[in-house]
Amino acid sequence: MQKAICYTRYGGPEATSIVDVPKPTPRAGQVLIKTAAGGLNPLDYRVRLGDTRALIPATFPWIAGHELSGTVAALGDGVTTFAVGDEVMVRVGKRKEHTGALAQYVALPARIVARTPKNLPLVEAAGIPLAGLTALQLLDHLGVTAGDRLLITGGAGGVGLFAIQLAKLRGAHVTTTASSAGEVLVRSVGADEVIDYKATKLADIGTQFAKVFDCAGGDMNDLLAATADGGHIATIAGELTPSVLAGFDVSTFKRYLASAVLWYRSRGVVNAAAARGIHYQFYFMLPDGRQLQELSDLVSEGKLRVVVDSTYKFEDYAQAFARLESKRSKGKVVIEFPPA
Ligand SMILES: NC(=O)c1ccc[n+]([C@@H]2O[C@H](COP(=O)([O-])OP(=O)(O)OC[C@H]3O[C@@H](n4cnc5c(N)ncnc54)[C@H](OP(=O)(O)O)[C@@H]3O)[C@@H](O)[C@H]2O)c1
Repeated sequence: MQKAICYTRYGGPEATSIVDVPKPTPRAGQVLIKTAAGGLNPLDYRVRLGDTRALIPATFPWIAGHELSGTVAALGDGVTTFAVGDEVMVRVGKRKEHTGALAQYVALPARIVARTPKNLPLVEAAGIPLAGLTALQLLDHLGVTAGDRLLITGGAGGVGLFAIQLAKLRGAHVTTTASSAGEVLVRSVGADEVIDYKATKLADIGTQFAKVFDCAGGDMNDLLAATADGGHIATIAGELTPSVLAGFDVSTFKRYLASAVLWYRSRGVVNAAAARGIHYQFYFMLPDGRQLQELSDLVSEGKLRVVVDSTYKFEDYAQAFARLESKRSKGKVVIEFPPA
């Protein structure tokens, strides 16, 4: 058996506790990772609250967490890309191979795992996979290239801080939203212009962007007002569109039903956008070992910085979740596992 931070039912923070669960054995194509640290993400408390139960139905105890760093402890049959002792990180898969990240040992397909950056402590590497991959994949969806003038909302969050840096590496000009508390940080990772979202509505800034990466959600009309006719809004936090289902393993019937519900709920923003030739779409990130290795290499080369808001000991998980759920964290909240 091993210890894991688990949800014991749907509910508030009190639904989380440390539980003894079976230690996994790696199957063919999998690696067994001894966890060093786990990053937290808003998805974690959404799962616990039951917001995602239609697409990710939980069975309890449900091991929490969606990303981790650690050391390869054993290899399943056929794995040749990693060796025991390698330091790795991974966005834990949410398809059939779903397992939570916040356990002492986790077995996962080798294809979604990447080596951690050189000279980066494992505790910091744990903050890369989910937010880093989300930023990379959304910039690809938007086709961000040199010379683009891009709006990224929510720049001081885990995803926003990676998105600003990756967009700057592509040569884009980046405007972002942050409170006065986050302004210095977003500028330090390269933001060219900062809008204090608490003082100014996007509709009032007098600029319209052809490409918008929305990490903040909120008022969709405000977001549309800041988007140029014919532009593209890629959101990870706004109104869900049926495209989100691409990231989930669900039956054909459930997919059809969910698609109809999401189409109905998003038709207001989608139609308002379409009337001005704006493409509005919600994206869900996918685990990808190759892209994660790209991010790792950028960190190794000193081109990408991992911003850690705070780290907590394994037994202090409640404080870590409270920090995450405050929605004020600047960068990643990480839980450090005790050494062997
Ligand atoms: N679809 C996907 O695949 C996907 C993947 C990852 C994340 N997400 C979603 O994307 C969102 C961002 O995730 P995250 O990990 O970056 O969150 P996070 O790290 O928890 O974000 C916290 C930050 O957001 C800032 N913030 C809060 N409200 C804001 C607003 N209205 N405008 C601008 N900034 C605001 C806060 O700054 P201040 O304290 O300065 O206000 C804080 O620094 C969440 O809703 C998350 O669920 C979706």
